[in-house]
Amino acid sequence: MESPEPGQLLTAREIDLVRASVAAVEPYAADLPRFFYAMLFDRYPQVRELFPAQMDVQHDRLVRALLLIVELVDDPANLVTFCGNLGRDHRKFGTLSAHYPAVGECLLATLEHFAGPAWTDEVAAAWTRAYNAAARTMDQAAIDDARHRPAVWQARIVGHLRRSADLAEITVRTDQPYPFTGGQFVGMETPWWPKIWRYYSPANAARPDGSITFQVRAVTGGRISNALVRRAVVGDVLRLGAPLGDMVLDRGSQRGAVCVAGGTGLAPIRALIEQAVLDGRQLPLDLFVGARSFEELYALDDLYELSRRHPWLTIRAAVADEQSVGRGGGDQLLQALASCGPWPRHDAYLAGPGPMIVAAARILRRGGIPLERIHHDPFVSIDLVDPS
Ligand SMILES: Cc1cc2nc3c(=O)[nH]c(=O)nc-3n(C[C@H](O)[C@H](O)[C@H](O)COP(=O)(O)OP(=O)(O)OC[C@H]3O[C@@H](n4cnc5c(N)ncnc54)[C@H](O)[C@@H]3O)c2cc1C
Ligand code: HEM
Repeated sequence: MESPEPGQLLTAREIDLVRASVAAVEPYAADLPRFFYAMLFDRYPQVRELFPAQMDVQHDRLVRALLLIVELVDDPANLVTFCGNLGRDHRKFGTLSAHYPAVGECLLATLEHFAGPAWTDEVAAAWTRAYNAAARTMDQAAIDDARHRPAVWQARIVGHLRRSADLAEITVRTDQPYPFTGGQFVGMETPWWPKIWRYYSPANAARPDGSITFQVRAVTGGRISNALVRRAVVGDVLRLGAPLGDMVLDRGSQRGAVCVAGGTGLAPIRALIEQAVLDGRQLPLDLFVGARSFEELYALDDLYELSRRHPWLTIRAAVADEQSVGRGGGDQLLQALASCGPWPRHDAYLAGPGPMIVAAARILRRGGIPLERIHHDPFVSIDLVDPS
């Protein structure tokens, strides 16, 4: 049998087969998750308790990620990074090594069901190799991670401040030390919606007393955000997964930084700036921040205070109407970013609504910042942003 090229997981033919089978099931993408979970819970009822009671449309993320593996099969370095992070993050769900073969078996059976005649023994063998490579990487990363930190931290709410009708500032203390770096984000579970995890970004760098502050906006119809803003009180205990994300300041860089924040995206950027102060930064850092109302710019008071004490920090704020923030992050903010640039020799850090990140990335790319120096929330893709 043909062997993969050095450094590759699958042969060129296997990659083609795996990709062709995904194309064959694409028309059934909406039905796939329901079929997969029904089979998984039927064949392996013991894994049901890892998942939330109510499985809704959002729970197609696992299946979507499994299909993403297909995008990465010919890019082993990225596959290893992606699966390593995912595997470590899966510790908070209670995932064990023994669960991987069960998920793999049901994934393949689901694909077989929907692919019809396109599913051959050769396709099945290629998929088995692709899934096993991903599962092994996830599992090994989780095993290594378990050697030096817990899967979950208990976090007691010690402060709950309503900053506006739908924004709360929530401060917690963890039961064990919780090392993180300003700019990272954290999986959080509340006592009211067991097994439902959402990501929130600490709005501070590590403090001597270990407390962490989150800024949470209640979104319309949103379960966790509304519970956190309107229901949570001091004394309630949340659960945190390990910190994630690499949107952290590059301490070795001799370049200035340009930061763009929209809405609650200010939280990680604020943490990053606090980190810069702690690190004794002297290089310029330009912050562009957009909010939906003047009320929401509250969090800037102490940043302005920091900028008075640290001449390397410059802040420009813009208030945009609600629609404009959702669409592209606030036209004034983006205009300001464009007119103050370009920053070809800077690193960039972007956090906020997806459309804002994409629009800001486009301006910065045009201004000469290469893609690899634009750091942002990993769930937004800017790879295809056209710099021309
Ligand atoms: C890296 C990262 C960092 C983040 N940091 C922050 C932060 O610091 N602060 C912050 O406030 N947020 C942050 N978020 C957003 C946060 O993770 C949540 O997405 C947000 O709080 C909404 O969660 P929810 O459970 O309240 O809403 P969900 O219940 O997930 O609902 C979200 C939306 O989907 C709709 N919806 C829900 N269920 C369904 C359904 N079955 N069918 C159709 N529509 C549905 C809801 O009506 C709502 O409009 C961050 C997100 C990421 C990815
Ligand atoms: C290669 C294998 C796997 C991949 C690629 C994968 C991928 C994912 C992704 C991307 C998410 C969404 C994470 C988030 O948004 O927070 C997720 C959620 C989850 N995964 Fe996995 N997963 C895999 C294997 C497993 C296994 C073996 C289990 C254990 C049975 C498992 C259990 C869960 C649970 C409980 C959730 C959260 C429930 C939910 O929100 O739907 N996963 N997975």
